[in-house]
Amino acid sequence: MDKGDAYTVADLSLADEGALRVDWARSRMPVLSALKAQAEIDKPLAGMRVAGCLHVTKETAVLIETIKAAGAEISWSGCNPLSTQDDVAAWLAREGYSVHAWHGQSVEDFYWCIDKTLEFKPTLTLDDGADLIVRVHGEKSEFAGTVIGGTEETTTGVHRLRAMAAAGDLKYPVIAVNDAVTKWDFDNVYGTGQSTIDGILRSTSVLIAGKTFVVAGYGHCGRGLAMRANGMGANVIITEVDPLPGLRAVMDGFRVMKMDEAAPLGDIFCTATGMKDVIVGRHIDNMKDGAIISNTGHYDCEINIGELNDRASSKRTIRPENDEYTLEDGRKIYLLADGRLVNLAAAEGHPSEVMDMSFANQFLSLCRLAKEAHSMENQVYDITVDQDMDLATTKLETLGITIDSLTDEQISYSTDYTAGT
Ligand SMILES: NC(=O)c1ccc[n+]([C@@H]2O[C@H](COP(=O)([O-])OP(=O)(O)OC[C@H]3O[C@@H](n4cnc5c(N)ncnc54)[C@H](O)[C@@H]3O)[C@@H](O)[C@H]2O)c1
Repeated sequence: MDKGDAYTVADLSLADEGALRVDWARSRMPVLSALKAQAEIDKPLAGMRVAGCLHVTKETAVLIETIKAAGAEISWSGCNPLSTQDDVAAWLAREGYSVHAWHGQSVEDFYWCIDKTLEFKPTLTLDDGADLIVRVHGEKSEFAGTVIGGTEETTTGVHRLRAMAAAGDLKYPVIAVNDAVTKWDFDNVYGTGQSTIDGILRSTSVLIAGKTFVVAGYGHCGRGLAMRANGMGANVIITEVDPLPGLRAVMDGFRVMKMDEAAPLGDIFCTATGMKDVIVGRHIDNMKDGAIISNTGHYDCEINIGELNDRASSKRTIRPENDEYTLEDGRKIYLLADGRLVNLAAAEGHPSEVMDMSFANQFLSLCRLAKEAHSMENQVYDITVDQDMDLATTKLETLGITIDSLTDEQISYSTDYTAGT
């Protein structure tokens, strides 16, 4: 471990590799780069201190340098014990950013890092999963006084924050970045879809074609994953608890059934629900020899690993991020990435192109809070429709794509209730 006044990272000597990785990400994030260029002039975050708790990846490094360019100070931790890219963390530390994160943390390490980022008394918090903000509202509430607002990156975090707001416990306004159309309908669908397959392939190297691939949850992430698995020739089965996405999955051409029925059929399982105990012991009891189980939801509670352990007579790591459990009846079950989000633990997370929009939303939300937090309630806010439209327009422009505009006659037509047959 390398420690300095403002950083704790695995190995500072990895910084050159991290620099290359960040260069690559930056070259694929034109929207965020344009915001950075403008922020260098306008300094919309001057005087702000931003504590971030979000996967330390190459794309996050581009977000961090954008926040700094806007005039803020930064202190950062990862939001998952297995997702930090150590070379990127090393590069951030060498560049003078305060970062406390390394790959392969214990739960104690994880909270130690979060607490380190609070020491510089942040004015804004940026979360992915709400662990930082919950800390500021609980065990570390002495740091709440300086914070004027926060942002949240993912579905599970937004659920937690809406519950806090409903209970009247939220102490400052938070913007639900996840719920922006330019985030939820892109990052969660196309980003998670592709990178989850990437994580499963890196940790198993199996052929997807011809496999029965069970996806639990047909929300944004599950739909993206099902689409990609289907595209690679898998027979996809969906499990759901909500009739609407269940029906959508049927109409999209997938088999839909209960996990109890899917358990004996699947070759590969991946949970994408944000819910606990989606795969439990009784499902494992009925799985095929050789079944692969994984999760791409935010927390590692979607697969009940305790009940897997209870059934195992031995366990060995057969490949990186792939543990072989031999059950008492002789069957072998393979658990990827300790049940943590497989796309970040076993691969690199979402491709930069899609994080370009998610992190542009993050950055613009921080700027809005710096300007408006004093007049906002202690509630969870959506991003504005204008921000979504502007970002979509800019993203299309960076792709060299122009679309039609309504003519004046079409605009009149769209509001003319007398126009019929
Ligand atoms: N891996 C990543 O990089 C990544 C990226 C974005 C979001 N996430 C996380 O993925 C999870 C899902 O996010 P989302 O945006 O798809 O949420 P979503 O709300 O769009 O979809 C979740 C779906 O799961 C279903 N579900 C809930 N409990 C279930 C159960 N027991 N069995 C089957 N289905 C069930 C819900 O009905 C819903 O349709 C969250 O934890 C989110 O934070 C992960």
